[in-house]
Amino acid sequence: MCGIIGYNGKEDAIPIVIDGLKSLEYRGYDSSGIAYFWNEKIKVVKEKGRISELEKIIDKEDKPTLAIGHTRWATHGKPSRVNSHPHSVGKVTIVHNGIIENYASLKEDLISKGYKFLSETDTEVAAAMIDYLYKEEKNKLKVLEKLEEVLEGSYALLILFEDEEDMIYAIRKGSPLIVAKSEIGNLVASDIPAILDYTKDYYLLDEGEIAVVSKKDIKFYQEDKEIEKELLTFKFDAGSAKKEGFKHFMLKEIYEQPRVIKNYLDHYLNNMDLIPDLSLYEKIHIVACGSAYHAGLIGNYLFSEYGDIEASCYVASEYRYQKNFIDDKTLVILISQSGETADTIASLRLAKERGAKTLGIVNVVGSTIARESDQVIYINAGCEIAVATTKAYTLQVLTLSLCAYKLGITKGKIDNKLAKELKDAYYNLPLEIEEILKLDYKKYAVKIAKSKSAFFIGRLLDYCICEEGSLKLKEISYIHSETYPAGELKHGTISLIEKNTPVIAVITDPKIALKTISNIKETRARGAYTLILKTKDIEVSEDIYDDVIEIETLNDLVSSILTIVPLQMLAYHVADSLGYDIDKPRNLAKSVTVE
Ligand code: AGP
Ligand code: GLU
Repeated sequence: MCGIIGYNGKEDAIPIVIDGLKSLEYRGYDSSGIAYFWNEKIKVVKEKGRISELEKIIDKEDKPTLAIGHTRWATHGKPSRVNSHPHSVGKVTIVHNGIIENYASLKEDLISKGYKFLSETDTEVAAAMIDYLYKEEKNKLKVLEKLEEVLEGSYALLILFEDEEDMIYAIRKGSPLIVAKSEIGNLVASDIPAILDYTKDYYLLDEGEIAVVSKKDIKFYQEDKEIEKELLTFKFDAGSAKKEGFKHFMLKEIYEQPRVIKNYLDHYLNNMDLIPDLSLYEKIHIVACGSAYHAGLIGNYLFSEYGDIEASCYVASEYRYQKNFIDDKTLVILISQSGETADTIASLRLAKERGAKTLGIVNVVGSTIARESDQVIYINAGCEIAVATTKAYTLQVLTLSLCAYKLGITKGKIDNKLAKELKDAYYNLPLEIEEILKLDYKKYAVKIAKSKSAFFIGRLLDYCICEEGSLKLKEISYIHSETYPAGELKHGTISLIEKNTPVIAVITDPKIALKTISNIKETRARGAYTLILKTKDIEVSEDIYDDVIEIETLNDLVSSILTIVPLQMLAYHVADSLGYDIDKPRNLAKSVTVE
């Protein structure tokens, strides 16, 4: 959530910080701001709305060489100029990503000490607290060390002190921050895209560490001592953070799927030792949020089918508070593109506390979930910029599918012949996806775009895929969309079907195809517009659908990866035909670092 960037160098800092903020726009925001030293004072400029609104009010004459910038995703107080960051109190100016959970009691305390507050934010309280501690303590590093005791919640903070013109201080807990040296100067940011124009090398700030960024160098401290940190390199093409001619990042990322899947298979299917042996556990819990949870639903199904193992899938925000039966024979799998989702991190920590083994399936290298899990599988999707995940989701499903494949072989449920066929089918996936991408989805999309609500139905694995297809549609097109196990519709929801209500049905499993077909008929009889996504082997008579999309018939370990692609394309084209800002859907953030 939100974007943070700081620059300290020789160049004009304002365009660098503004460009950095633009490259982080995908993370979701509602206002933006910048602070810099000018005429020996800290100048703060901020505005509600898009970064272009901020650009309009920055004085073009100002040419600072140090600046910090922020895009805010409001948690405490509405989006407004006064609530936007940076916040200045006394000698201190900060930008903040995260939530200060104990801000109310701190605020009361600070008011009693004479502080006055202008905004409704928790961030202004943090700024006041730093100012207060600085007055007491005088030593900046000691003040920042102390913050961990004082502030509860999560934060990535960049801090300017009015009395030290040449320095940016950075500290984090929960929310991520990276620090980088480049030819143009030193940078601090909440994510890689903000630095990629200047360098691919970066340091990952760990919890409890402080970065002190001057024009010349970057120093890291932990518990009062200077420390050395490992320099990491972003190993993907820098182009993975650029649109490269596509109208939207989402479309580009959908089209990247054949390539990232091929690379993934070359790496993992060629070396199955990299895939963990799940037969070592008595039960498996899969825990995640949003699309990652939907990927988990598929893993859950495949583990039970091919591994004969007790598997369950949970939404992380529930898992962390409910009663769970975790022990040292349980494997808890945490799935997360960002590796920074607050509820998934909390579930990981809980699972570890209870003695379970943990496996992270993560995209962002070095993220919290990747670092804290006992074992990690990186999906290697490269940067995913669109808020609506596509390629990362697909690689999460592929990872779970390979885990199930290995489990099936170990448990003797997949014999040598089937193992060989499946291997070929996995390797063929990129080509299959390329074929599917050639289909015309616009003609179906315009029909769906006219509707207020849509329904996705399927059974078993198809139901799990529908969940993701439906989320894709609603998050970017704002069309209300629900998913139902096909047989469940008539227990209430069918009352919502009226003339032309889109019902998108997925049928890839021959053993339950006839059942789903009956359910489609029931909706058509009530006037629904029915669009069927099915495998070629499944026969359906023309009188039960309005439109049909056909995909290759494959074993479900492999089809679970292919089937989502038409639904991604459909959602994209519905939203595009409605003219929405597809990469930055309203109210959403790419990385949900708060509860
Ligand atoms: C889906 O398109 C969303 N971006 C969202 O549901 C996402 O999958 C969820 O917030 C989990 O994020 P994570 O994978 O980074 O943990
Ligand atoms: N909690 C802070 C606020 O509401 C920061 C939100 C963010 O991460 O952008 O201002």
